[in-house]
Amino acid sequence: MPDRSWWRNGVIYQVYPRSFADANGDGIGDLDGLRGKLPYLADLGIDAIWISPMYPSPMADFGYDVSDYRGVDPLFGDIERMDAVIADAHALGLKIILDFVPNHSSDEHPWFRESRRSRDSAFRDWYLWRDPAPDGGPPNNWLSNFGGSAWTFDEGTGQYYLHLFLDKQPDLNWRHPALREAMFESMRFWLRRGVDGFRVDVLYHVMKDAEFRDNPLNPAYRDGIDSEANRFLPTHIADLSETMDVVAAMRAVVDEFPDRVLIGELYLPLERIVAYYGDRLQGANLPFNFLLIGAAWDARTIGSLVERYEAALPPGGWPNWVLGNHDKPRIASRVGDAQARVAAMLLLTLRGTPTLYYGDEIGMRDVAIPRAEVRDPFEINEPDKGLGRDPQRTPMRWTPAPGAGFTDGTPWLRLGDDVASRNVETEAADPSSIWSLYRSLLWMRRASRALSIGSVRILGVSDQALAYERVDGDERIVVCLNFTEVPAVLPIDEPAGRAVLSTYGDIRQGPLRPSEGRIYLS
Ligand code: NOJ
Repeated sequence: MPDRSWWRNGVIYQVYPRSFADANGDGIGDLDGLRGKLPYLADLGIDAIWISPMYPSPMADFGYDVSDYRGVDPLFGDIERMDAVIADAHALGLKIILDFVPNHSSDEHPWFRESRRSRDSAFRDWYLWRDPAPDGGPPNNWLSNFGGSAWTFDEGTGQYYLHLFLDKQPDLNWRHPALREAMFESMRFWLRRGVDGFRVDVLYHVMKDAEFRDNPLNPAYRDGIDSEANRFLPTHIADLSETMDVVAAMRAVVDEFPDRVLIGELYLPLERIVAYYGDRLQGANLPFNFLLIGAAWDARTIGSLVERYEAALPPGGWPNWVLGNHDKPRIASRVGDAQARVAAMLLLTLRGTPTLYYGDEIGMRDVAIPRAEVRDPFEINEPDKGLGRDPQRTPMRWTPAPGAGFTDGTPWLRLGDDVASRNVETEAADPSSIWSLYRSLLWMRRASRALSIGSVRILGVSDQALAYERVDGDERIVVCLNFTEVPAVLPIDEPAGRAVLSTYGDIRQGPLRPSEGRIYLS
């Protein structure tokens, strides 16, 4: 009997809570705001909501610096409000996935305060402390993903602590049994409250070389262009073989509860992403597949990527696809408005669980943030390299009104100048909008076993277009996508059945129009 769990059949929608809906008028999204939008999400046709961190945090990295794994930051609400979000979501048939941040805590977490208090602290080894190098400098050449050394000297105790991100995000020591157990208990805390799973932040980073050896130089590094961390290869700080033990242990915790999911954030090559399914599939249920985020946007590249990914999956491993998230430029900015529709059709018709990023359903684009308004520490530390993440984190637009229906106050990031045309209210009233396309695709996928769980096979590819089929039993769907801005002949004979959906409002047979995606029922 094939597994029919919700996280295979369903579609995940990522909410960046600061930017989704602000109920209290402080300009920052909150849990009451999200709660009010749950009916919207149910109607849109998604199945699960992944909420970026809402835990107590000094917000140095906007919540990815957690100071209490078992609470809610007052900016967002409180634990009762979180319970209410979970209960309302469940009543609407939606699942809730929390972000779990195991690699590092905030430096304001009581564990770290205690750890840095003295070398003899019982919590000292919950973090990674090392003596200075003989010259007094950092213990090795490891660099922070946000620029600069990954080591910060602590005057009080005369040692350096490791942080692969900000100095306000000290790395936790996953070799320490008590730390592991405390983190697992934090997961259970939420699982008992009914959350349906976790997206695990930088899962590939949790283990570091036990001997703290230097990383090798990266010969491909481009000075002034690449992020500073890329000066070295992450040989001793990422994707260590011991990481799989941690993943399997997290999975065992999640599996103590029925019907939950473990998703891993993994920026790794294809062969390594699929390793995180684990031996006998005892690793992550869904190791995030970010291949579409980095890929050149053309039919042959995407076609071969689908084939390579499908071929690399372990037997029984369930695929997944992602177009964007809060760390990457938005899809509509990467490929343009017309191709963003093709991308929507691709994402929602491939085999595997899709994850949508909030606002992509209205075709939101990156919003340019003037230097004086920059909030992202990555941009502040490494300016003008195009690495900053504020542009893709701007508030959701619900209406054309001032504040975009997001807030009655001043939004924490500017809204952008195309709110009047790109917002839910306006687009929901327009059957030819990208929002209407997303909704049709989501409900079509939900109604179709071929689309939600069927097999996939590439049928044809040309320089312009890609065609594939999805099949379950006697249900067969053919998808044809034109990746160019000129008309394209179909890369296959026209399917025998009828065309049922186009990225254009109206449906035609024959050659594809510029940037047209079309679905046939055959
Ligand atoms: C990955 C998260 O997605 C990103 O937003 C964050 O800054 C880093 N991990 C550090 O937690």
